[in-house]
Amino acid sequence: MKILVTGGAGFIGSNFIHFILGTYPKDEVINLDLLTYASNLENLAVWKDDPRYRFVKGSITDAALVEPLVAECDAIVHFAAESHVDRSILDPSAFIETNVRGTYVLLEAAKKHGKRFHHVSTDEVFGSLGLDDAPFNERTPYDPRSPYSASKASSDHLVRAYFHTYNLPVTISNCSNNYGPYACPEKFIPLIITNLFEGKKVPVYGDGMQVRDWLYVSDHCRAIDLVLRQGKIGETYCVGGNGERPNIWIVKQLLSALGKDESSIEYVKDRAGHDRRYAIDFSKIERELGWRPSVTLEEGLKNTVAWFKENEVWWKNMKSGEYEKYYEKQYQKR
Ligand code: NAD
Ligand code: TYD
Repeated sequence: MKILVTGGAGFIGSNFIHFILGTYPKDEVINLDLLTYASNLENLAVWKDDPRYRFVKGSITDAALVEPLVAECDAIVHFAAESHVDRSILDPSAFIETNVRGTYVLLEAAKKHGKRFHHVSTDEVFGSLGLDDAPFNERTPYDPRSPYSASKASSDHLVRAYFHTYNLPVTISNCSNNYGPYACPEKFIPLIITNLFEGKKVPVYGDGMQVRDWLYVSDHCRAIDLVLRQGKIGETYCVGGNGERPNIWIVKQLLSALGKDESSIEYVKDRAGHDRRYAIDFSKIERELGWRPSVTLEEGLKNTVAWFKENEVWWKNMKSGEYEKYYEKQYQKR
């Protein structure tokens, strides 16, 4: 299979490309990525001279660039997005442009050439759960609450509309928070690990009792691949990690793994509109496609700490330049 991967130089996209090229010797990948602050082509350096891999720099909003790439592939796996909630609060415009309009441009090209389309989405489209609420599943009504989740919800609706209206062969996966190698150090787990390596404090929003369901990135890539090859056309699959924990639990686990004490915690002003809890019921993908998460949270955190320890140059690069400007703005707001 020849796959157009959008956003393949980002966190999950680059893990997915490693998974595909490492698992299927006959598969080929074109990676279309704009190379924003969240990307790093170093993630894929081992494939750069492999004839099965090609990188194209550009935006998914550029129809003239996108169309011939879609034409030459069998399937599109769509990761490209602005993905950080905090950035969407500071300025939603790029979220609308990439996540909504970019998805529309890809869908139009897929429609023109009748191509298989898998859309990678998030559980954040379902809104926020109370502590006693049942986890999200494929029938949970949409209730996005941040500009990020609203833009992803819009893109999910567009993807479904192209299935119902034009018979486009689509699938959607809505997954919980990912962590693991190549995670952008603006996000919670890599931010904590790298701040602790740098001897800095870790900013905990509000009371730290918000709950996320952590999914190790290789488990997520395996789920996407299964849905792409065996998923039922027109269907949605919820993908969760069996890893529900309050944020403060994660912080304390990482403090202990890195030999630090609680004086490294800095409670800071809460995120505006902060969703309290996400949790996923993944029984549909388990029942229909035989998928379940294989990496426990304890094991995954250990691997992630080890990966960041071994890849200091990588995360120091990611934490310089554009990142510093963002961080300054983020803290002025607080
Ligand atoms: P990321 O921010 O690490 O990477 C996004 C990639 O998309 C980057 O390489 C960036 O350069 C690229 N990109 C951005 N705008 C683009 C454009 N206009 N054209 C082409 N490329 C562009 O994101 P991620 O964490 O790898 O997330 C990938 C996908 O998975 C996203 O769609 C996100 O909504 C979804 N998702 C992520 C998580 C998570 O925990 N990270 C959870 C659920 C769903
Ligand atoms: P994040 O990684 O931004 O993912 P999302 O908002 O998409 O779930 O944040 C995960 C959780 O960690 C979320 O509840 C916000 C919280 N958080 C902090 O407490 N401090 C931080 O510095 C960051 C980035 C996040």
